Amino acid sequence: MCGIIGITNKKCNIVDKLIVGLQRLEYRGYDSVGIAVINNDSINYKKGAGDLQSVMKRVNLSDLIGYTGIAHTRWATHGGVNDKNAHPHLDCTGNIAVVHNGVIRNFASLKFELESKGHKIISETDTELFAHLLEEEVNKNNNFIEALANALSKIDGTYSFGILYKKESEKIYFAKMRSPLIIGFNENVKAIASDLPALLDMTKTVLLLEDGEFGYISPTGFEIYKLLPGGGFRKLSVEEIALKVKTVELTPEAASKGGYQHFMIKEIYEQPNAIRETFEGNIEDPALIKAAEMISSSNRIFLTAAGTSYHASLVFSKILARRARLFSYPIISSEMSYVSSSLQSDDLVIAVSQSGETYDTLQAIREAKKMGAKIIAVTNVLGSAIVRESDFSLYTRAGPEIGVAATKTFLSQIMLLEMLSSFISYEIKTIDKDEKNNILNYLKYAPNLLQSSLEASDTLIPFLINFHKKNSSYILGRGLGSAIAMEGALKIKEITYLHAESYPAGESKHGPIALIEKDFPVYIVSTSDAYEIAGNAIEMAARNAKVIVVKPADLRLELKEDKRNIYFAEMPPSNNILELEPFILTPLFQILAYRLAVERGYNPDKPRNLAKTVTVE
Ligand code: F6R
Repeated sequence: MCGIIGITNKKCNIVDKLIVGLQRLEYRGYDSVGIAVINNDSINYKKGAGDLQSVMKRVNLSDLIGYTGIAHTRWATHGGVNDKNAHPHLDCTGNIAVVHNGVIRNFASLKFELESKGHKIISETDTELFAHLLEEEVNKNNNFIEALANALSKIDGTYSFGILYKKESEKIYFAKMRSPLIIGFNENVKAIASDLPALLDMTKTVLLLEDGEFGYISPTGFEIYKLLPGGGFRKLSVEEIALKVKTVELTPEAASKGGYQHFMIKEIYEQPNAIRETFEGNIEDPALIKAAEMISSSNRIFLTAAGTSYHASLVFSKILARRARLFSYPIISSEMSYVSSSLQSDDLVIAVSQSGETYDTLQAIREAKKMGAKIIAVTNVLGSAIVRESDFSLYTRAGPEIGVAATKTFLSQIMLLEMLSSFISYEIKTIDKDEKNNILNYLKYAPNLLQSSLEASDTLIPFLINFHKKNSSYILGRGLGSAIAMEGALKIKEITYLHAESYPAGESKHGPIALIEKDFPVYIVSTSDAYEIAGNAIEMAARNAKVIVVKPADLRLELKEDKRNIYFAEMPPSNNILELEPFILTPLFQILAYRLAVERGYNPDKPRNLAKTVTVE
């Protein structure tokens, strides 16, 4: 996730407006920023790594002058965090400047093709390739719109682009495919942006672009074209455009939360998109193959992480055991120092951390490195401390997470780790190519299931809030379900301040069941690797607990006994595909925790005593 903005007008320098826009888009990424303007028929730009404030100090963006310009705030997906990789990116001639939000999947083949045609690629980003691709097409076409359409037809992935073309100095070209992009306009100013907050200081009249749309804005108007499925494109009529125009009455602050009350709920609903980005951003990346090779050639596999990231590691561990028949050792990162002396130089540690900065996890990898073990980082933040100290890194590419409670980064970690598991299983031949492709095809479909799960969860929340009337609850699961249960309990605890405890369901009869009394809420997370869980539901109900079984709708449970206290939260079907079940069964607990917190009068974005990144021991 990145933020882009472009503004054009005839009357004044727009650089200050671009800077305000960048401030409003910083929630979408803040590791590098840059601005390009057209002035005296040349493209001038400044950019650098760091957040807006630090780059402003270093390269003084306000020095730029122009009536037409584009700007970008980056959340790195391809290429490290450095000045060179910051946007905008230019073609060889300096005639074209591009800012981009999204991921170009056919990055590797495109790079090869462009380099063999003599293009000199400066950065490691996928975006720069598009500037060069446009240059190729501009050389073949007189018309920039045609060049843009042709270039778009050659890329695969997600994008919203803002483009300057020196020879048309008042225009900003744009294109959108599965990354957000809107046009905002009034009589004097026309603008594009990734999101509303960047535009609301200028105008309340906006137009939400749809996938496959592209075109340009100029000080006097704009044109929109649509890519056609079989190739080619057509221009949208005035009537079609008029139907898309809307007036919004939000403040920039409310708009940065997407109109939601809190970032947490916005991020929960953003999850289908986040895991899609994880999938698309990694599926063609040779890094997954390299990581799978490193893992399968090592002796033992250790996983280390804290909190939610630890729960994602547990999911991975269970999936890996099932698909690759490989045992891995999940270790809470603050516990690593007590076992690290047993590590050997042919062991491998996978460190999972959304922030890449968690002190405990950083210490855990330092301990492991001392013993000579290799480290693979799985994180959401390029260039973070854990990345810098690891031998190799994989990125979840979920975009920044602002709410303190991890939500979208959890499911993005699971998406990436499950992809990795299928690559490892194929590498060590426990599955064949068809099976690997089947798993990946299911994962490609996971965003749709996740969307349905969010909708199903929403309809159940009023019932569940009523159900959850005690100060304490159990969340039980077996196998994969036990990891999902742990994450569910953590979400409830950290933002509602209600006690919630997770146990492997089979373990509940070895002590925890003593607490069960009438109407004690017990959630049973039911996954397709654990049919025996029906017995645990019955044991709890028989002691007058209120039991709610959270399960994929097509999972059959044999509940022969009295079902009086047993309720069902039916989630979308999983077709017994274990990999899909975290996406199906997790959202209910996230939304429940969020709604309970709000009902109890707490701010879920800022739970007491917690910080987004824990950099202390
Ligand atoms: C829970 C949560 C924390 C983090 C933990 C590790 O909602 O956010 O438990 O998961 O502090 O953080 P990272 O993943 O940044 O290492």
